[in-house]
Amino acid sequence: MLSVSDLHKSYREGDQIVSVLKGLSFEIKSPCRVGIVGTSGAGKSTLLHILGGLDTPTAGKVRVDHTDLFSISEKKRSRLRGGSFGFVFQFYHLLPELTALENTMLPALIGGRTAGEAREMATEGLKKVGLASRSAHRPNELSGGEQQRVAIARACVMRPKFLLADEPTGNLDETTGGEVFQVLDQVAKESGGILLMVTHNLALVKQMDEVFELKDGTLHKI
Ligand SMILES: Nc1ncnc2c1ncn2[C@@H]1O[C@H](COP(=O)(O)OP(=O)(O)OP(=O)(O)O)[C@@H](O)[C@H]1O
Ligand SMILES: [Mg+2]
Repeated sequence: MLSVSDLHKSYREGDQIVSVLKGLSFEIKSPCRVGIVGTSGAGKSTLLHILGGLDTPTAGKVRVDHTDLFSISEKKRSRLRGGSFGFVFQFYHLLPELTALENTMLPALIGGRTAGEAREMATEGLKKVGLASRSAHRPNELSGGEQQRVAIARACVMRPKFLLADEPTGNLDETTGGEVFQVLDQVAKESGGILLMVTHNLALVKQMDEVFELKDGTLHKI
């Protein structure tokens, strides 16, 4: 369960305060795919970062199952993040000097698995996204769609309950984007089943179970 209540986020810009999230609330109880749309600067990335504990809210609560994400220590939050959340970004964020397999192993190593265990988990993950044969390739030896599939394998290697994707197909052509979404959808179903995806792609929006528009600092169901 992911529940957000009265979330506020503002940034200070010199002597000005910019309010991005203004009392936003919502709850996801059961496995589903939720789409978030909104104009550039509406606060979509800000929201995703806060939900995953990568950024802190100015006010309000985020509950992950029964844990209040921002009342626990940074150490506990980071452990919860590593075990329960997977992130996929528009520009993949793979480490260029590591192979596809090594990139995919990282969350498992950070989560305390042995190198052997991490390797096994990552191999399984790359197989799931159809890239077993590219394990030894570095990101610059992979296409954009392949890099994003590695990023998805990495995001899912710990079988996170929540998969947060920020415009995961934004940098891909329509066909590749569609394929990447199918992979994302499939792995989300196999792990926690809750996929929260920011997207501008209307074809993908149509495939989501619920869609919200982030506007004026709050979410509106559409
Ligand atoms: N670290 C920061 N410091 C100051 N302002 C910030 C910071 N991060 C984001 N903002 C501001 O917050 C607002 C929302 O940014 P955010 O990146 O969440 O938008 P977005 O909806 O993801 O946009 P896009 O579709 O372009 O990715 C913007 O006006 C941005 O300038
Ligand atoms: Mg953004």
